[in-house]
Amino acid sequence: MMRIDVLTLFPEMFESPLSHSILKRARQRDIVQIVLSNIRQFATDAYRKVDDKPYGGGAGMVMMCPPVFACVEHVRAEAPEPGRVILLTPQGAPLTQAKVVELSREPRLILIAGRYEGFDERIREGLDAEEISIGDYVLSGGELAAMVVIDAVVRLLDGALGDEDSAAQDSFSDGLLEYPHYTRPEVFRGMRVPEILLSGDHGKIAQWRMEQSLRRTQQRRPDLYAAWLARRQAENKIPQNDKKQEIET
Ligand code: ADE
Repeated sequence: MMRIDVLTLFPEMFESPLSHSILKRARQRDIVQIVLSNIRQFATDAYRKVDDKPYGGGAGMVMMCPPVFACVEHVRAEAPEPGRVILLTPQGAPLTQAKVVELSREPRLILIAGRYEGFDERIREGLDAEEISIGDYVLSGGELAAMVVIDAVVRLLDGALGDEDSAAQDSFSDGLLEYPHYTRPEVFRGMRVPEILLSGDHGKIAQWRMEQSLRRTQQRRPDLYAAWLARRQAENKIPQNDKKQEIET
């Protein structure tokens, strides 16, 4: 069973997301153990101080080293694996599906969510922590980012998804966006399901879906499309300069 420790000033923020759907089921089935720790309980002074003014001046407050180190040392003593320490910050490496897959293979993660302007740099240095960002925008704390990491990682763990769901089919698992989906009714407010999906011709359907995936990726995410093409060419699946695979838009 994977263990995920979450170190935060707001453990209550995690309760609802961890208590529904896939995360709830994964915890009930002992696929993952998620342990929430309140950093404030490890404050070393009488006021339970966890942040202070930045050396050198400037706006905002900085998360202090002593409570964070004490909290990490406390949770580390609870299980044998040291755990991979991750700080959620906008300065981190961007979270990608490849990174999520990598994290899902770890026996233990220690996620540290910060509030205020950021962490004292010695937290990253002294704990040999890596930083992860969930995107190029600024949240008011790392909690929501930690929840995003947990959700994306846990759904990949063996047994977390039901039989009908499959992580292998996800967007990004092959570097392309997913094709469009349809279900009943066949006509809704004049909008028809594409005829080919009703044809029963599985070969043609698979080909149509692949074309749709490629077209959508090319239109919406030219960055992903270029990376996919480059990968295909590197694998020699497409001879260089072959224009046939390019989709008209
Ligand atoms: N904390 C604040 N903003 C963040 C972001 N974009 N990703 C991860 N942690 C954050």
